[in-house]
Amino acid sequence: MARASIEEEFRLRFGGEPEVVVRAPGRVNLIGEHTDYNEGFVMPMAIDRWVTMAVRPRADGRVTLHSIDLNDEGSFALGGEGEPGRTWIDYVRGVAWALTEAGKSLAGFDGVVSGNVPVGAGLSSSAAFEMAAARAFAAISGFEWDPVAMARAGQRAENLWMGVNCGIMDPLICAVGRAGHAVRIDCRSLEMRTVPLPLEVSVVLLDTTTRRQLIGSEYNDRRGQCAAAAAACGASSLRDVTQAQLDACREGMGDLAFRRARHVLSENDRTLRAAEAMRAGDAALLGRLMNESHRSLRDDYEVSTRALDSMVESARSAPGCHGARLTGAGFGGCVVALVDRHRLHGFVPHASALFTAATHLVPAVYPCEAVEGADIVSRA
Ligand code: GLA
Repeated sequence: MARASIEEEFRLRFGGEPEVVVRAPGRVNLIGEHTDYNEGFVMPMAIDRWVTMAVRPRADGRVTLHSIDLNDEGSFALGGEGEPGRTWIDYVRGVAWALTEAGKSLAGFDGVVSGNVPVGAGLSSSAAFEMAAARAFAAISGFEWDPVAMARAGQRAENLWMGVNCGIMDPLICAVGRAGHAVRIDCRSLEMRTVPLPLEVSVVLLDTTTRRQLIGSEYNDRRGQCAAAAAACGASSLRDVTQAQLDACREGMGDLAFRRARHVLSENDRTLRAAEAMRAGDAALLGRLMNESHRSLRDDYEVSTRALDSMVESARSAPGCHGARLTGAGFGGCVVALVDRHRLHGFVPHASALFTAATHLVPAVYPCEAVEGADIVSRA
């Protein structure tokens, strides 16, 4: 929804003007999947889809937020009693709780929220919502916007409030995104390097329209299997395990843990090589690494689905495609492809038609741009 409509809705609901309008983007991960919670490397970019919030402080320590998209209102008292929950307002409550735990003193607010990040598509709509909430709290409570600290609070909110055991990648890229760039993140040290996107290619999202539930057990199972593989190698994290060590410990850990770990080790290596390929402007190599990433996610990590595989095949068969892979946790949602810009007009209908012919599903296929992370849009 356009900013003007959000402000209009604010006037209707609360009277008067919002004090500040903030927004936080969704993200697409180019490569480095299921590596963040293994202290490895990822290379996401923030995308031109946002959660936008218009807010005005209130003095009584309450937060009241109206969701335009859900046509629903949520409200809670800061620092109030109450159990963690899993409704949409709990994203804001969870962030408030995590920021308070981190020593921030928060002001309450009236607000209106709307977003255009597809939900459940692997594009981090929840991290976008959390970082928009954090940005709003920072702006109206008057504390400094420290993107890494805010991302950590977002992750804690997901892990401990929403009960989703995800890594740091999503809130971090939603907070630190850079226009025209992906960000190579070392999820152990949180060292970040911006990497320019090759100019002649476009990043295309291909939404299968199938949806997953991250709260489902598969994600946590994978985490457990990785931890078991690391332990079998005598390490606390797969980051410290080499391929030779993994091979040497293969017998002791069993085939499943071995294949999970093989994905993580090889994906870390691909992510580093992909960052180099991007710096060198080598779109063909970047595309090949994305293709290898998908194969590894499908065969070793087993987080793909028929729809995702079919979408990857459709993208690769369409004109101008350098490579394609599932993006995000898997089990549904989106594929990301790297496509020659000047062949985009042919790529989109071709890939869509192939996918529909194979699955009878109608996908949403659209290019995206890399944008800045969470930010203040306007201030009264
Ligand atoms: C989800 C999680 C991330 C990451 C990806 C897989 O998006 O939120 O932390 O683990 O899955 O790479």
